[in-house]
This record gives sequence, structure tokens and C-alpha cells, in this order.
Amino acid sequence: MCGIIGYAGPREAQEVLLDGLKRLEYRGYDSAGVAIVGSGLKVFKDKGEISKLSSTMPRLSGHLGVGHTRWATCGKPSQPNAHPFLDCTGKMAVVHNGIIENHLELKAALVARGHEFKSETDTEIFAHLIADALADGNRDLREAVRASLAQVHGTYAIAVVSEKRPDEIVAAKNASPLVVGYGKGENFLASDVPAILEHTREVVYLEEGELAVLTAGAVSLYGRNGEQISRKPRRIEWSTVAAEKEGHKHFMHKEIFEQPRAVADTIRGRASLEQGDVTLDGMELTEEYVRSLQRVVIVACGTSSHAGLSGRQMIESVARIPTQVELGSEFRNRDPLVDERTLCLAVTQSGETADTLAAMKEAAARGARGMAICNVQGSTAARLAEATLLTHAGPEIGVASTKAFTTQLVVLLLLALRLGQARGTLDPAVRAEIVQALRELPALLERVASTEQKIHQWAQKWHEATDFLYLGRGPLYPIALEGALKLKELSYIHAEGYPAGEMKHGPIALIDRHLPIVAVMPRDAHREKVLSNLQEAAARDGRILALVEEGDTGLDHIAEDVLHLPKVNPWLAPILYVVPLQLLSYHIAVIRGCDVDQPRNLAKSVTVE
Ligand code: AGP
Repeated sequence: MCGIIGYAGPREAQEVLLDGLKRLEYRGYDSAGVAIVGSGLKVFKDKGEISKLSSTMPRLSGHLGVGHTRWATCGKPSQPNAHPFLDCTGKMAVVHNGIIENHLELKAALVARGHEFKSETDTEIFAHLIADALADGNRDLREAVRASLAQVHGTYAIAVVSEKRPDEIVAAKNASPLVVGYGKGENFLASDVPAILEHTREVVYLEEGELAVLTAGAVSLYGRNGEQISRKPRRIEWSTVAAEKEGHKHFMHKEIFEQPRAVADTIRGRASLEQGDVTLDGMELTEEYVRSLQRVVIVACGTSSHAGLSGRQMIESVARIPTQVELGSEFRNRDPLVDERTLCLAVTQSGETADTLAAMKEAAARGARGMAICNVQGSTAARLAEATLLTHAGPEIGVASTKAFTTQLVVLLLLALRLGQARGTLDPAVRAEIVQALRELPALLERVASTEQKIHQWAQKWHEATDFLYLGRGPLYPIALEGALKLKELSYIHAEGYPAGEMKHGPIALIDRHLPIVAVMPRDAHREKVLSNLQEAAARDGRILALVEEGDTGLDHIAEDVLHLPKVNPWLAPILYVVPLQLLSYHIAVIRGCDVDQPRNLAKSVTVE
């Protein structure tokens, strides 16, 4: 859950590291620090954001170093718990992302051998283990790192620098991402590509158990058993500007407005208007296998699980395959019914969510084949899965997921259509209609985004409410859940998403004249029922804010605020109707003075279980 950056080259490392850390803040931002090798090894670290670190840090001259931005897991956010960590001699420093499960046991043994610990973190054991491994003088830094890693159980991406090896960074990874960037006369290391994109586009993603040694002039890669390996760098095509705010006040705002483009990119080349066919690059499963499928199990967390709930309806209706949605964090707590005729479909923006990855591994261990819907090429989920369908949303920096969600919905629909095509369960004429509607979707999203002014007025009116209820039915029920989650995470207002028909079985007791009820009610097969649910709410003084189709006046007499959205194919209504809910949460949070891009207690990618 942390960000790592490393640099070896002719420039002042401090500048490169601080700039990289700034771009990595979405991975964690409760404390940060750097270790620079110049005339000796110097470490500077502090609690708080990178901007605080930059403004208080003295000039540390040197051309090689590592940096870290933290999201606390083991040990509270504090200066002593910030990375990098030094060994007892102060001549070697380590940064780490991940969790070491046996750190208490290792720490006890190290303390018994005279090591003094200065923090509460699991990471600090690396500094001491490596120092121990170097003590007999028989190993170089790389070998000492390897020997230390052999003793730990858990997940890690680490980077180590030492005053005794002033020209090299040793890095290793297991289950936490790490990428090496190749420059000219300089090389880079990062937990995420946006941190180094400004400097290089040629990268190698380290695989599980691999180790890298970077100097200014070379990168050496080593496999799990210490053998030297070679791998050709791949070129990253993202533009640097795509990872920046582009004039928007917040990344989240930029990302909401990027949705028409993100959706268009995700559909591009996959849906043929002429034949009404869907082709999916990355769908490396045979037609025969698709036809033999007995079940789909979708594993996901948070917003991605809401996309999964929509996906379930799409796959069951269109491809007629029984589908269930499992929260990554819960899947392994049961004894799940999964076998070789189950497709485990992981939905994950980052591809690094530990709970989702654990669920994928559990399903694979029981014989299921794995597919990932993911926004990050080369991520762990993409590498674990047999097939990966990429959402082409581009980097999503705002912690609250927006464009990643809508593009997940697009890919899930494309997948349902593709499965239905292979299984012959969908009338080709209906498929062609949906494909046509998909192609028109980006333009409709533009129109919906242009309702921002009105949503802003809603936010001004409702931002002081203490609770919200979101209601939807059928395909819009997951959107009610997503609207409520967005409001909670951004504005810290309590909100619940409910199936509209379930309201009368409990939440109706909450309704009074203080409760705003946000209803998503397109003109679909469920409209009449939602309408009567809302009449029940209005009869109890509930204050209704409704999203309805243009021309629908059915709620005018009971709703306090109504937003009209363009007519859309019912399968695409979730994608369209979630956008005003994202904007509502965004504007309420801004008015309340909340940190929109980095809500409290949250991290973009949750890499611990
Ligand atoms: C979304 O706004 C949240 N930040 C969170 O629920 C997120 O969707 C969840 O942690 C899953 O992340 P993933 O898609 O990267 O796996």
C-alpha cells in the first residue's frame, strides 16, 4: 500500500525522488522519506505529505537513492515508522511495500542477537536481517538481500542502498508491484509506472521472487533461484500528461470528465457495428471452453464489486451462465464451490488488491480458470489470470474510482455479449442493437457530464445532510450501492444503497423529513415498481432527489429535485446513471472541505488482506 521510487544516474537524486514520490502519493500519504548515497548515506523522513517533506528537507547531495511514501499497516503513521529504515550502523537503508507475517518472530531473534529496533514496523527487520547476512563478509549486497528474503514470509517490494556499494540499488519483489525503468546513462525503480514516466517509457515489471540490481549504466535481473535472467523492456504508451490533472481542480474531477474518452477507448476495436459482433483481445479462452462453462464466479472488492453485481445480471441474462459475485475478502472464509468448469472473473482496477488476488488464487487452487478485468497492464491480477480484458481507462489517480468503474461495466457487457455470441444465447439482432448503443454511449456520457451545474446546485442544497439513502432496482441496484459508497468515502456522510423493493423491509423506518433519498429510475422494466416504492417514501416525508429519463414526469409531484438523463438502452443505463452520482459526491465533498483525491483512511490500492 506504499509507493517506492529509486534512481541511479548523473542527476541529483533528491529531485528525481521527490518528484517521483509526489506522483506516487495516491499509493499512500501518511509519511514519506528518502535515502541518498553521496558522501555517505543520508536519510530524511517525516510524517505527513510529500509537500511537507519537500519543504522541510535539507539539500542532500548524491546521485543514487530510494524514496518511499507510506500508508500505515504495521505501526501508526509517525516519523520513526516512516521509511527508509537504517541498519544499526547507519550505513544501509531499506524501503518496503507489503506485509511481513513472521516479523515478530524474526524481530525477537534479532533483538536476542543485539539488534536495536527504532520503529514498530515489520519493514525494519529487513535492515537488520541484511546487516546480519553481510556481517561475515562472505556476501555482497545482492546475496545478502537474497539470504534475508529467504527468511521472511509475506509480501514485499523492497529497495536497498548501502554506503559500502554506493553505485547500486538492490530491489526485489514478491506479491507487491515493482517496475524497473531504463534510461540513457541512468536507471529508475518504482512501485508504479506513473512515477517514472516523465523520465523513461522502457520498463520491465519484476515477476514474483525476482531481484534487480540497478546502477547508472546497467540493470541486472535475477530469477527466484539467483540465476541471472534477461528480459526485453516493454514500452509504455500512456502519455505523461494523462497522469496529471490537466487543469482540473482534482484528479477525480478530471477522471469523471474523462469517462466519455475512457469508454470510447474501451469499446474501440472490440464491437463491430457492421456485423454486431464482439471481439475481445485478451480473451484467450477457446470457444469450446466457453460453451462448456457451468458457472462464473466474480471476485472483487469495493467499487469493483459493484461493477461485478452489474456484470452478474449481464452474464446471466445475455449468456445464460449462472453467475455469483463474491467479495474478495470473504471468498476464502467459506469453502467455495468452484471447479474446472468455473470461470473465476476478477474485477479490479489496480490489479493489486490483496483480497481479490487471494480469491483468484483460491479459485485457481480449486481448479477454476482465471480471467481478470483490469486497468493496469502487467499488474499482478493480469499476470495471475489466464486471460485479461483491459479497461482502457488510463491511470486513475483519484482514490475514489470513477472512470475505472464505468469502463469495467463496459468490459463486463462486452464479455457477456461475447459469451452469449459463443453460446448462441442471444438473438443477433438484439446483440447488434446493444453494440450500436455502446457506440453511441460516449456522446451520451458527454451530455450527462454537462449536467454538472445542476448537480452542483443539488450539492449546495444537500451538503449538510447527515444521512442519505440511495435506491435502485434491477441493473440500477448496484448503482445505488455505488452512489452511496462514493458519498461515504468522499464526504464522510453516512449513506446506504438499497434495492428499492427492500426498503419497506427495514430502512423505511429511517425515513423522515430530514432524509434525502436519491432514486435512480430509468424508464426500464422496473420503473413502475420503483415509482410506487418512492411514493411510499414520500408518504413518510422522505425528500426525493431523482434521476429519470428525459420526458419522464412520473416523479414530478413527489420529488424535490429531478434530473433528466438521455434515453439509453437499458443495458447501458447503469453506466450513464452513475455519473451524476459521482458528481454529486464530488461536489458535496468539495463544499464540505474534504480532501477529494485522498480521502482520510483510504488508499488507492489496498495491497493487504
Ligand atoms: C473505490 O472508490 C474504492 N477506492 C475501493 O472500493 C476500490 O474499488 C477497491 O479497493 C477495489 O480496488 P481495485 O478495483 O483496484 O481492486
